[in-house]
Amino acid sequence: MTAPATRAVTVRVPAKVNVQLAVGAARPDGFHDLANVFLAVSLFDEVTATPAEALTVSCAGPDADQVPLDRSNLAARAAELLAARHGIEPAVHLHIAKNIPVAGGMAGGSADGAAALLACDTLWGLDSPREELLDICAELGSDVPFSFVGGAALGTGRGELLVPVEAGTFHWVFAVADGGLSTPAVFREFDRLAEAEGRAVPEPVASPVLLAALASGDAGALGASLTNDLQAAAVSLRPSLAATLDAGLGGGAVAALVSGSGPTTAFLVADEVAAAKVVAALEGAGVCRATRVAVGPVPGAVVLSA
Ligand code: C5P
Repeated sequence: MTAPATRAVTVRVPAKVNVQLAVGAARPDGFHDLANVFLAVSLFDEVTATPAEALTVSCAGPDADQVPLDRSNLAARAAELLAARHGIEPAVHLHIAKNIPVAGGMAGGSADGAAALLACDTLWGLDSPREELLDICAELGSDVPFSFVGGAALGTGRGELLVPVEAGTFHWVFAVADGGLSTPAVFREFDRLAEAEGRAVPEPVASPVLLAALASGDAGALGASLTNDLQAAAVSLRPSLAATLDAGLGGGAVAALVSGSGPTTAFLVADEVAAAKVVAALEGAGVCRATRVAVGPVPGAVVLSA
């Protein structure tokens, strides 16, 4: 008897928070050089790939109506790029079970791109070398390679050149805002603020103090060294985030920051008991649409079932 052909492959992939996001001046190609310390956290999307006549995408979850189902979806683009490299048709249906906030600064779209790539590679039996999959990830977007590898890593270049870094376990609360923020718009606002303030933008450099704090697993030390150069730009575009940050700090968070380009806000907490208090403070103050509790680091994209 021959083994049945694989009919479905499901890949689970995490969200990220940036514990340091140092942003340089705009480059001629429009991107910004970064020193970007990523931490993968336990909020997950799942992407299931099944054979189909043509490439189609569906999505379920609380924010599914905000997810594009056309070729602009990074999951669809991942399937197309992988198929093109191998001279095959991207004949696959991709279903996204979405739990990561949409356009929230937690790399949800990038996560789906990384997950779809691994799911299609497995479904089509390509067994591509990891380096080739990481190349495709970098072509898909600056955050996609990190979504693929997970854990904790320093990203340089536009964020796609990764070196793993050591990290203890940290507890987080995330406050999901109403509506998303456009990443390009936040970077443009960063440029505008620097120019308006007559500020020279230094080369982005990873902080040795932050990297040591991350490795130590000491929430107090990490909280003292968290930085996000996009925070002022995100708050400028969405002033209500200031009240969200304050409410979480009032609830006992060790530290608070905007996650990536926002508008999700991230609260570092000492443990699960502290997390529950911060959730209660955020929900009591009515300063966000939803809250999520997570830990990190967690692994990147993994095949759950094939
Ligand atoms: O790479 P990705 O497609 O995710 O980037 C989305 C947009 O975010 C870019 O078009 C650019 O406007 C901005 N960006 C940037 N510098 C980076 C990463 C992203 O300016 N390092």
